[in-house]
Amino acid sequence: MSKKEVIVSGIQPSGEMHIGNYLGALKDFVKLQEEFECYFFIADLHSLTEDYSPEEKRQQITDTLIAFLAAGLDPQKSTIFVQSHVPAHVELAWIFNTLTPINELERMTQYKDKSAKQKKNINVGLLTYPVLQAADILLYHADQVPVGHDQIQHLEMTNIIAKKFNNKYGEYFHEVKAHMKDPVRIMSLTDPEKKMSKSEPGSYVGIFDEPEIIRKKLAKAVTATDAPTGEMPKGVKNLFDLLKEFADPPAGGNTFDKFDKQYKDGSIKYSELKSDLAESLITYFAPFRARRAELTKDTEALTKIMKEGAEKAHTVALKTYKEVYEKVGLVWS
Ligand code: ADP
Ligand code: TRP
Repeated sequence: MSKKEVIVSGIQPSGEMHIGNYLGALKDFVKLQEEFECYFFIADLHSLTEDYSPEEKRQQITDTLIAFLAAGLDPQKSTIFVQSHVPAHVELAWIFNTLTPINELERMTQYKDKSAKQKKNINVGLLTYPVLQAADILLYHADQVPVGHDQIQHLEMTNIIAKKFNNKYGEYFHEVKAHMKDPVRIMSLTDPEKKMSKSEPGSYVGIFDEPEIIRKKLAKAVTATDAPTGEMPKGVKNLFDLLKEFADPPAGGNTFDKFDKQYKDGSIKYSELKSDLAESLITYFAPFRARRAELTKDTEALTKIMKEGAEKAHTVALKTYKEVYEKVGLVWS
């Protein structure tokens, strides 16, 4: 039997998980674990490069783990862990720091965007963020990395670092590829020009939002945006995108088709579309809320999952790190 390809991806624990994150990342992770050798982690160290509060961070790490599990990631199928629990990530990043040209890092879009956003906190971690990400990926010799468009530059950086390493110390790391299947981009409910994001509180529906909150958020969704004649306004298109994802599966049904037809013949009532979509979201995420309630009660089980995941990841990471140590000329103790 041929060896399964390796998939690695991380999500920063920096706020509530929303339906955009779910469609753009988590939902795909859950599918991938059936087919690949998967490493999914909570990128807590990366998230320290942004402004944050320590107490909130601790909770966000646990909440992200709960979101992973509630969405269907299974510790029996995937290696699920917290980045900071596996020290080799930082250790390998240091070696990579010595190989990475500063000017390559300075041209990264995310670095420029974040520096503009947090002018008073342009820390070195923001600059070397892609170096740690390269370590996350190469420690497990990933073949594919499921990420959104915004992360493509960081994958290219990973490949640059791998090449530099190979040129200097001999062929060792192989190229990684982005895994992007039908990348969906869900837009903000309040400003459909921007993407749905946890940094804009009104913009998103959380995967654990209570029914009443979902109804309220959807009722406020913006539909009256300008669009060139003949084109669907962005806010409306966004609601249709969500309908397509959440309205009918798995039972089937024709909610999407019904509203699509009404849109075309001009009889559509957006209040009805919004309330039907709200009910679909409530139904779709009901099992997520139930699993979260169970998981929140069982802190011991969560600790055990974190610990076992870290041990599994550590074993693989340590093997790579030892081999790197040898190659770069350090003395293993
Ligand atoms: P946020 O903007 O909410 O802080 P992140 O930048 O932390 O989200 O992204 C976490 C993951 O979710 C990434 O894989 C990203 O591609 C995906 N993602 C974030 N927002 C959206 C969105 N609006 N639509 C689709 N995918 C998204
Ligand atoms: N930078 C990614 C993001 O913001 C998170 C991340 C950290 C990641 N390390 C990674 C993603 C390694 C894929 C692989 O979404």
